Amino acid sequence: MQEGERHLVVIARALLAVGLDRLAERFEIREGGLEATREQLLELVPGASAVVADPAVPVDRDLLDAAGQQLQLVANFAVGYDNVDLDACRERGVAVTNTPDVLTEATAELALALTLSAARRLSDAERDLRQGRWLGWDPGAYLGLELHGATAGVIGMGRIGRRYARLVSALGAQVVYASPSPEPEAERELGAKRMGLPAVLASAEVISVHAPSTPETHQLIGADELDLIGPQGVLVNTSRGSLVDAEAVAAALADGRLGAAGLDVYENEPEVPQALLAAPRCVLLPHIGSASTRARRSMALLVADNVIAVLEGGEPVSPVG
Ligand code: DGY
Repeated sequence: MQEGERHLVVIARALLAVGLDRLAERFEIREGGLEATREQLLELVPGASAVVADPAVPVDRDLLDAAGQQLQLVANFAVGYDNVDLDACRERGVAVTNTPDVLTEATAELALALTLSAARRLSDAERDLRQGRWLGWDPGAYLGLELHGATAGVIGMGRIGRRYARLVSALGAQVVYASPSPEPEAERELGAKRMGLPAVLASAEVISVHAPSTPETHQLIGADELDLIGPQGVLVNTSRGSLVDAEAVAAALADGRLGAAGLDVYENEPEVPQALLAAPRCVLLPHIGSASTRARRSMALLVADNVIAVLEGGEPVSPVG
C-alpha cells in the first residue's frame, strides 16, 4: 500500500450508518446494496482489503480469489458464519470475524416471542380475526400451551441457548438441554438437566434450537425427531434453517403429528417452502432474530471495530476459529 493510499473496504450488501460512517472516515468504501447479485459482488470485491459479509453472502473460494491477495479480513455482520468458507480463508491467510454477545438478548427474546406465539397460536388467531372469521368468544378455540409448568428443551447451550433457558425458566418452565458439553452454571442456577437429543425431544413440550449450522447439525430435526416432539409439542428455530427439515415440519403440522412451530430461519433464504406457508399452527418470521435497534447498532459497530483493528495492524476484536 502506497503512502497516502486508503484501504478499500467492500460492504457486500449493507451496513448500518453507525458502522459505515466510522469506516468511511478511514477507508475507501464500496457498497453492493441489498439487491446485489453474485455477479455484481464478484465485480465489486477486486482490490478489497476487507469484505463485510452477512448471512446472505456466500464467501467462498471464488469470491476470495476475485478479491485478490491483498484481502486481509472477512468481517461477518452476524454471529453465525456458516456462509463463510473458513478453510478457504485460512489457506489464503484471511482473518474472519463475527458479532457475538451483542445480539444474545435480542435473539433469545425473539425465540421466546416465537415460543409464546406458536404455543398460544397467535398467528392463526390474528389471521382469523383480520379475515373476519372471529365469531365471538369461544371456550374451545385456539387452546394452547402455558410455559409455566411446561418442560422446555434447549438444543445447543451456547450464549443464546443459555439466555433463552433463563427466560423460559423465569416463566416457570423446567429446562432440559442437549449440548456437546455440560453447562454447570445452568444446571446449578436453573436446575437444567442435560440429556441426549432423543430424550430431550421426547420429554419437552417446547423445543428451541440454538445450535450452529455445521455438516453435523444439517437436518438435525427431521421426521423422526418431529415424531418425538409429538402432537402436543412446539418447535422453535432461530438458529439456521439447515438444522430443521422444513418440508417434514410442514407435513407433521398438516397431519397433526406436530403441535405447533415457530420459525425465523430457512435453508435457502429468502425462499420459504410453499408447504410451510400453507401449514397450520405455524408462525413464520423473516430472519429477524437479531433485529432489535440496540443489537443491530452494536453489531454494526463491532463489524467496524474489527475492520479498523485488522487494517490498522492490530488483532481482530472477535475472531472466528
Ligand atoms: C446471526 O447473527 O447469525 C443472525 O442470524 C443474524 O440475524
